[in-house]
Amino acid sequence: MNRKTYISDDAIALAEYIPSEDAQDQYNCWQDEGTQSGYNYKRTESFEEYYSSGIKSRFIATIIRLSDQARVGAIFLSPEDTEPDLAIMIYKPFRGAGCGTRAFLLGTHYCFDVLGLEYVYAGCFAHNTLSRKMLQKCGFHPYPKGNQAEKHIITGEEIVQYDYVKYNPECLEFDLGTVIGVPSVDENGDVLSKALVGSYVIIPKSHVPNPI
Ligand SMILES: CC(C)(COP(=O)(O)OP(=O)(O)OC[C@H]1O[C@@H](n2cnc3c(N)ncnc32)[C@H](O)[C@@H]1OP(=O)(O)O)[C@@H](O)C(=O)NCCC(=O)NCCS
Repeated sequence: MNRKTYISDDAIALAEYIPSEDAQDQYNCWQDEGTQSGYNYKRTESFEEYYSSGIKSRFIATIIRLSDQARVGAIFLSPEDTEPDLAIMIYKPFRGAGCGTRAFLLGTHYCFDVLGLEYVYAGCFAHNTLSRKMLQKCGFHPYPKGNQAEKHIITGEEIVQYDYVKYNPECLEFDLGTVIGVPSVDENGDVLSKALVGSYVIIPKSHVPNPI
């Protein structure tokens, strides 16, 4: 079936999700221990229940490898009324070949350039080395405020889902020379939130900061 392509590079495309073809791939991927470990989540519903529950993501795409049109994974953004959180699964046979990193980068570009989001979050457990590398390569930074404590689905031990963020460079100005503590302000001079990433302040481009 011909799919609409949302965004692509020279090896990978994020293409239209077609439930009748893709839901089974995704469901199978959820049965994989690597996926369950990556998400610290085990699906217990049947395929029929999974299929009929529909799509809640505000954006979902199937990841296609262009060399042979293989469906290699899926990428999805959290529902409309939630903070934008991007998640991905690469189907087991296709892992470790660079597809995840390429697809996540494309997904982030799509969120910024097409959906116009100012920032995107992504979560990653400490044990998920591949995911952490992928996020770092895609330019995400730790966002400790969003870290969430959870219990491991198998061992029950306390684990942390580390939160990461990437800001849309079109919407934000990185003011490397400004000391932490200088807030961003709106056009009336009212103080907005200050977002700290590493040791610098991020200021929305539309707002002119007033030194204090
Ligand atoms: C996490 C995931 C999306 C990464 O996608 P991927 O296509 O497998 O990863 P990539 O090939 O892009 O590789 C990412 C990094 O991991 C490294 N890597 C990949 N496979 C590896 C392996 N078997 N052993 C060690 N390192 C490996 C890559 O070399 C790369 O690091 P580098 O940039 O330093 O070379 C994928 O493995 C996956 O779907 N896992 C299960 C679900 C999951 O955890 N999703 C994320 C939830 S937040």
